Amino acid sequence: MISIVLPTYNEAGVIQETLRRANASLVGAGEAVELIVVDDSSADGTAELAEALGSTGSNGPAVRVVRRPGRQGLATAVLAGWAAARGEILGVMDADLQHPPEALASLACALRSTGADIAIASRYVPGGASSERWRWPRRLMSAAATHLAASVMPWTFAKVHDPMSGMFLVRRSVLQGVELNPVGYKLLLEVLAKAPYRELVEVPYIFGGREHGASKLGARQSLEYLAHLARLARSTGMVAGWVRYGLVGLLGAAVDVGLVDLLAGRCEWPLYLAAFVAIQIAVISNFIWHDLGTFSFPRAGALRYARLLSRFLQYEKTCLAGALLNLATTLLLARARVPLLWAATLGVAAGGVWNFSLNVPRIWKTWSSRPPSALVPGTFAARGRE
Ligand code: GDD
Ligand code: MN
Repeated sequence: MISIVLPTYNEAGVIQETLRRANASLVGAGEAVELIVVDDSSADGTAELAEALGSTGSNGPAVRVVRRPGRQGLATAVLAGWAAARGEILGVMDADLQHPPEALASLACALRSTGADIAIASRYVPGGASSERWRWPRRLMSAAATHLAASVMPWTFAKVHDPMSGMFLVRRSVLQGVELNPVGYKLLLEVLAKAPYRELVEVPYIFGGREHGASKLGARQSLEYLAHLARLARSTGMVAGWVRYGLVGLLGAAVDVGLVDLLAGRCEWPLYLAAFVAIQIAVISNFIWHDLGTFSFPRAGALRYARLLSRFLQYEKTCLAGALLNLATTLLLARARVPLLWAATLGVAAGGVWNFSLNVPRIWKTWSSRPPSALVPGTFAARGRE
């Protein structure tokens, strides 16, 4: 049986339609299904409407409602629903129809046919999309949030295209004994960081616009998200990874500045050549240290000695913009008669900041990427009807 949890907070306008379509979708795929609505004291009668639909008799959907006092948050709602669930497959989706219930069938088929442990409805695989038109502040926030998460969990982001998805199925067996901390909105991040899954699949879907009610995402949810990432960074060993990365970066900076001083200052090479060689040797030094140990995270997999060259070229490519920035800064400052050591130091600082703020997930993916397990064709649009 598949148990789908639908967390609700004031979704009276759509809850019955969502439940009907979710049920039809899974029944149509030949699945036994139970729907569990976890409602946080909605004032608009969401819980009553869900209960009413559940008691319509034998051919209506099997609906149970968990009512909780006050508003307690999305992630805890999902866990409360799973705790009450009886299925061997657990799932979650939004109740507001931004997640098309029809995608449930393909999630279930994907899980069954591939034997994967997790099936994620994804906006970011071919065929998927978001039809919400976000203004640029929200886009920027979302990009920054994704960037940060990719810095905390590079191995996950190397494999999963939409780790922020709120619609997915997971086999109960991979959650056995796993302690999920229900912080904030993004339970999937928690599952991906902690559950010992083997394979996962992504199914494309189109995230629809909201037609009823309002989004529940606010400043508080954003702060919870940051707290969640910080906690994940600690528990996954990523904080230690960052420290190692920072130390290697400092060493590389020392190599760079030292070589500029030696080659340009003492050996009187032209500065552009000295700085170029110094930066390149620093990049190689960084690469060697990173390859030897910076990226030995618990979940990153064994170090690979194969494909050393391609890894190096990828690293070079990623570092190129920062290296050019470093070179340009150093040359320009030296030209403005800034002392050589200062010019080199400021150059390396500029390149380092650039790399750290823009390239971290990409650099880390160099050491932790695995190809996506499988992509499942077919697209489901929110609000689309047959
Ligand atoms: N029980 C409960 N308690 N339900 C809640 C709470 C809460 O505190 N907050 C929100 N919900 C319910 C909403 O009623 C809705 O069914 C669902 O959780 C998602 O909330 P929205 O406010 O509609 O989220 P969104 O549209 O911004 O974002 C959703 O889509 C993202 C894109 O894939 C979320 O589901 C994200 O998890 C998802 O990644
Ligand atoms: Mn929504």
